[in-house]
Amino acid sequence: MSVLNDRNILLIISGGIAAYKSLELIRLLRHEGAHVRAVLTAGGAQFITPLSVSSLTGQKTYTELWCLTDETEMGHIRLSRESDLIVIAPASADLMAKMAHGLANDLASTTLLASDKPILIAPAMNPQMWNHAATQSNLQILRKRGILQVGPEPGDMACGETGWGRMSEPRQILESIERYFKPKALSGFSALVTSGPTFEPLDPVRFLGNRSSGKQGHAIAEALYEAGASVTLVCGPVNLPDPQGVRCVHVQTATEMLEACESSLPVDIFIAAAAVSDWRPVQEKAQKIKKSSSTPDALRLVENPDILKTVATKKKNRPKIVVGFAAETENLEKNAKAKLKNKRCDWLLANTVGPDDQGTEKTFGSETNQVLFLSADGPEIWPRSEKKDIARMLVQKLTSALASPNKKGRKKS
Ligand code: CTP
Repeated sequence: MSVLNDRNILLIISGGIAAYKSLELIRLLRHEGAHVRAVLTAGGAQFITPLSVSSLTGQKTYTELWCLTDETEMGHIRLSRESDLIVIAPASADLMAKMAHGLANDLASTTLLASDKPILIAPAMNPQMWNHAATQSNLQILRKRGILQVGPEPGDMACGETGWGRMSEPRQILESIERYFKPKALSGFSALVTSGPTFEPLDPVRFLGNRSSGKQGHAIAEALYEAGASVTLVCGPVNLPDPQGVRCVHVQTATEMLEACESSLPVDIFIAAAAVSDWRPVQEKAQKIKKSSSTPDALRLVENPDILKTVATKKKNRPKIVVGFAAETENLEKNAKAKLKNKRCDWLLANTVGPDDQGTEKTFGSETNQVLFLSADGPEIWPRSEKKDIARMLVQKLTSALASPNKKGRKKS
């Protein structure tokens, strides 16, 4: 039976040409057994009619806040409270702005403000509007509140421009809705993930760092959240948005990363995906080091704490499963096996870093990754895949290991 069977979906259709796609979304939802009630904003009603919406939902379409009949029959409070999920497709820039700032001047915005239900938005707008600082900052506010999002996608727009702003296709929106309702394998479990590089300051303008983009660590945090875990992501300086639904702690240095990890314990799962700098300058210089200073004294280095090993060797509060990474340029399996043992982790994902024959970086910054997975059960080669898929494969392993704890493939020490 479909996970959507007998679910109540409140669909808010706001203004945008993509509103016509929402008619198909209603059809798909009903096909899966969901009950759909719709609110059509004044903007939405410029593109499709209440009649076409009602013909597909089989129910009255709500449009007016100040309509006595609607309020008596249903009321904006009941409209939201009786739904299992509110889907806004298309979500216009205007409606997103109203949500972010708590405006309630029409039926859709009032219903949303009066709601305590989960919300999924499918934004659709002109690329300039999408990229505008106001829309992006509204989006950040909404994400911090845990609002779920699907799309937008890049492509040609009805207005003739090209860029990010197309609403996701109805089938993709349907998949996101189904994902929300699917039973969550890791619900009740907590996870801590490190991601990105660390920057160790030499002086106010320079640092020691590395080429890690954080894509793999962030994808893991996202996949854990999707699987229902409560996730903390401690991330170094990266150029990526915070993943949805994840508590993010931003740090710069290895010392700060360790502190942030320590204060996030205890957790069930620890995954060290960050490329932590092994060394830091003995002392950060207060002023910019001048070319004329004869010895770059600031280049005297001291070793950083090993975050993975610190967590993996905890006597108290050791996570149930500790997963490390290994970034190697040569002797992948040999070096990775040594790290697995030395750092006392349960599993290790090893990957080769550095340029390939064409001079393109194999792992850092790439969308794909090739992993050698090590556990006490021996090595497994995972084929080169999207980092998101590597994250999902790892989450699947975690799910089965946590379901039967003696199968985590860790040697007794
Ligand atoms: N790691 C860590 N703290 C450090 C260094 C590394 O937590 N100070 C973690 C990384 O997040 C990764 C694993 O240890 O999960 C291996 O990191 P890697 O950079 O491959 O190895 P190093 O321990 O730094 O050893 P080397 O530089 O000699 O390869």
